[in-house]
Amino acid sequence: MSVTEASHIGRPTNRVDGPLKVTGQARYAAEYPAPDLLYGYLVGSTIAAGRITAIHLDLARSVPGVVEIFTHENRGKAAWLDRSWRDEVAPPGHPFRPLHSERILFDGQPIALVVAETYEAARDAASLIHAEYETAEHCTELERKRSEAYVPPEKRSGIPPPPDPRGDAEQAFEEAPVKISRDYRVNAEHHNPMEMFGTTCVFEGEGRLTIYDKTQGSQNAQGYVTSVFGLKSKNVRVVNHYVGGAFGSGLRPQHQLFFAVMAAIELERSVRVSLTRAQMFHIGYRPDNFQTVSLAADREGRLQSIMHDVVAATSRYEDHQEVVVNWSGMMYHCDNVKLSYRLAKLDTATPCDMRAPGAAIGVTALECALDELSYEVGIDPLEIRRLNFASKDENTDKQFTSKALHACYSEGAAAFGWNERKPEPRSMRERQELIGWGVSTGMWDAFLQKAEARAKLSADGRLEVSTAASDIGTGTWTILTQIGADAFGIPLEDVTARIGDSTLPTSPVEGGSWTAASNGSAVQAACEAVKQTLFKHARKMANSPLAAAELEDVDVSKGRIFRRDDPGRSLTIVEVMHAADLQAIEETGKVGPSLLQMTKYVSYTHSAVFAEVRVDEDLGVVRVTRVVCAVAAGRILNPKTARSQILGGVVMGIGMALHEEGITDHRLGKIMNHNLAEYHIPAHADIEDIDVIFVDEHDDKVSPLGVKGIGEIGIVGTAAAVANAIFHATGKRVRDFPITIDKLIAA
Ligand code: MOS
Repeated sequence: MSVTEASHIGRPTNRVDGPLKVTGQARYAAEYPAPDLLYGYLVGSTIAAGRITAIHLDLARSVPGVVEIFTHENRGKAAWLDRSWRDEVAPPGHPFRPLHSERILFDGQPIALVVAETYEAARDAASLIHAEYETAEHCTELERKRSEAYVPPEKRSGIPPPPDPRGDAEQAFEEAPVKISRDYRVNAEHHNPMEMFGTTCVFEGEGRLTIYDKTQGSQNAQGYVTSVFGLKSKNVRVVNHYVGGAFGSGLRPQHQLFFAVMAAIELERSVRVSLTRAQMFHIGYRPDNFQTVSLAADREGRLQSIMHDVVAATSRYEDHQEVVVNWSGMMYHCDNVKLSYRLAKLDTATPCDMRAPGAAIGVTALECALDELSYEVGIDPLEIRRLNFASKDENTDKQFTSKALHACYSEGAAAFGWNERKPEPRSMRERQELIGWGVSTGMWDAFLQKAEARAKLSADGRLEVSTAASDIGTGTWTILTQIGADAFGIPLEDVTARIGDSTLPTSPVEGGSWTAASNGSAVQAACEAVKQTLFKHARKMANSPLAAAELEDVDVSKGRIFRRDDPGRSLTIVEVMHAADLQAIEETGKVGPSLLQMTKYVSYTHSAVFAEVRVDEDLGVVRVTRVVCAVAAGRILNPKTARSQILGGVVMGIGMALHEEGITDHRLGKIMNHNLAEYHIPAHADIEDIDVIFVDEHDDKVSPLGVKGIGEIGIVGTAAAVANAIFHATGKRVRDFPITIDKLIAA
């Protein structure tokens, strides 16, 4: 049985959850009602390192409505061993254990939870808590820790360390006629999804909890809760139907989950805990980093040597790791490559993944450096990229399952009008504005993860597909509905998707841009299994018109199962189920990476990003007036939601280029701009024309659906394209991101 002619897949389709969201009916974690609900408010440490010597609660306890205040002195029982606290995506180290002891590891660390009958009472009481500390020396400044950088002794699962050097990069660099060596930095960025972290833990009695949590993985959160509190899986259900953005911040369980569950267990009441916007700045961040990229080429621009060294921030207690430098060994063809990645410990919370973790910063440095090299060689920045195209992954010597990057370059360049570019910096202007055009390549993983799904076809022709995936704004609800509808040739309205619930078939966290490929393929496999069962029953019927047919001869559409070569020979689903005395047919489907294939192939998404900036020559104000992002990501299930993902990625890339940075007062070890007035993210006025192109890319190996995933590729390369455009406009190279006005004027 082959896939029915696709009529929903590939079509720009509105979000099936859209009406619920715009009418306010879609409930987020902190919006679920519960009888006798209590409200928790967290109090954060005001020092970055040391210990609590006393904590004064009397004033707070006297606030009417306060039910309990938890500190390290009276917290509930929780696991002792590190491994019980380690969630599915935790890095190696000692996971943070809230209220575990009097020790302070970072500024803003939760030191108390006030629980009250109202949120206002809890918040009021929290403001009256006074802690005394014995401070220890702290360091939040990466620059001061560079000399102590180390190679992480234990690798984080799923994060390959840099490959061994190949060739002799140092010697090739020495001997090459054209070379550059530059230092780059992308300052720490903080997570600001629209929805802040919140948990409503409903105390159901008899030891059962229903937990509405803002998370990217209901089953990861469930596993954390059961192992931290020693509960049975069947008694803990985690629901995350709707997630108001997460971008990696919800991969690991956040503080509010621990606190809401701990308080609910201790008080035997339902408890809600949510973080404030300011508290969101203490939950982990895109790590600050120092990078050095050295590139050498022959006189035509062919790369002779690539060296890329990175020191990135981590916390005192965990070795957070990302793939930062490996990209530099596989994006371009080069025989001599040397890459290194080290960490330095700061007195901060453990950094956390943020959209395209690693690539977003590493590729930024590489792509700026390659731009600098193109001017040294004297060739077009797009040309140097084409010239150095890598036709296999030279880090591992494996083939790409597909790589339509040349199409990204040419279709992107055509849409942008790159041919009109004048090569000289400062050669394009309109009145007081200097105009610059920049380009960058982008690259991100195309993973297929283990995932399971269930499909249930009812006699009335309705279909339900379910998997414990999350939709973090990406469009998962919609694409799973489309896949189900196409499998049975039925309208979207006849399909119900069920996701965001730990009781559903096993799913990884929604991350790494793998959900469409993984959960989507699992749903398709489950639907195929249902069709097979349906066919088996259809063939068995008395005088069945399909008696002589084989599975591959038949198809299902619009409530009928029929012979493809003679559609008149058919049965209705109702007839088949009636004859078999069934109300519904329910089957499961499973997918996962093929180990055999992984020995030969690697899979990545690719992109080419073109940016136009206009820079006010006197004031240094930068406007990004046009971006064209051409993406090769295999089969696109829904061009509308896919486009939205790329738009969002590009906007975040513009934020990285021009706006976002956590500013710490290193004397105090405190983040100073923990609000959206002082931590700048792009607003509507910062975003002008963004054009998204999906180039044709057929890939029958990457995933059963031919899908690669598009959640992260949009950010990769965008900051570099903007920086390169700023250089082209102004002749000034700023290598310290974000490129703010002060840096540009001083350059
Ligand atoms: Mo993504 S940073 O894996 O949510």
